[in-house]
Amino acid sequence: MEARRKIILDCDPGHDDAFAIILAASHLDVLGVTTIGGNCCLGNVTKNALKTLEVIDRTDIPVYAGHSRPMVAELVTAPQFHGESGLDGPVLPDPVTAPQKEHAVDFIVETVKSVDGVTLVPTGPLTNIAAALNRAPEIAGRIREICLMGGSVTFGNWTPAAEFNIFVDPEAAYRVFNSGVPIKMSGVNLTRQCAVSRERVDEIAKIPTRTAKFAVDLLNFFLGTSKEAASLPAANLHDACAVAWLIRPELITAAPMHITVELKGEFTRGMTVCDYRHLRCETPGTDVTESPTMGFRGERPNAEAALRLDFPGFMDLLIQTLRDCP
Ligand code: RIB
Ligand code: CA
Repeated sequence: MEARRKIILDCDPGHDDAFAIILAASHLDVLGVTTIGGNCCLGNVTKNALKTLEVIDRTDIPVYAGHSRPMVAELVTAPQFHGESGLDGPVLPDPVTAPQKEHAVDFIVETVKSVDGVTLVPTGPLTNIAAALNRAPEIAGRIREICLMGGSVTFGNWTPAAEFNIFVDPEAAYRVFNSGVPIKMSGVNLTRQCAVSRERVDEIAKIPTRTAKFAVDLLNFFLGTSKEAASLPAANLHDACAVAWLIRPELITAAPMHITVELKGEFTRGMTVCDYRHLRCETPGTDVTESPTMGFRGERPNAEAALRLDFPGFMDLLIQTLRDCP
């Protein structure tokens, strides 16, 4: 059995980021959690990461605060989905732990330089990752891969064209997608399939663990805001998909394609422009059989784009993880 994959989870908790932390801490070797301003301000997302690790008794995992705002754009947050604290719903005391003194970007650079085979798992805006690559371009050759939640092969969620994480910092996303590091992209075209309904929440509520109670409180809030703010019938656990892909790769069907990021479009800024002309399908996620006759056109693929999720399989993983947590 392969040793647990070494990862750095870069996140902006955020309800779905909290689920990413729970899954990652339970199944992967999390060298550190780094935080980025996104769903909420840096101070709050950092506090929320500490709280989540305390709920699951994993304060051995260090937390490093990163950038508070994008490289160029102004910070956009998402209180309509995550509340003013960034993790509204659960009633938790202030964290008793504190973030490390080192900046997240320094931690990312030093860890990749000193540890072989590290995977970066960003589930928020990509500012910290881009800053690390700008600070030490040589680390690109040492990063095993970047398995991110962000972008989309089809529609956006923040705008018709752009997904939130990419929209918040398109310049950072452009740097990451064009870094040469192998990318796994769990876009919103995929993560919208990870739709946790009221019935599923009721199933989780039967699990007699503190972490399951935390999960239910998160989902009850997130169900409400997802419906109110976006007329969604369920709570989409976007970020958990990127982590699940590393834990159980068979849960996700993906296809190779070239992806870059639009920076200038009046209506398309922050769009992940995906070239899937080699796929014999009109809308990726339906018939994803590659057509050998069509071959790749344009630039060679730089990413694997997730298209289909085995949602029942994902729920099995989540339920078992919540049972096994404190
Ligand atoms: O578009 C979904 C992404 O934006 C998720 O990472 C969610 O946490 C928010 O950051
Ligand atoms: Ca996030």
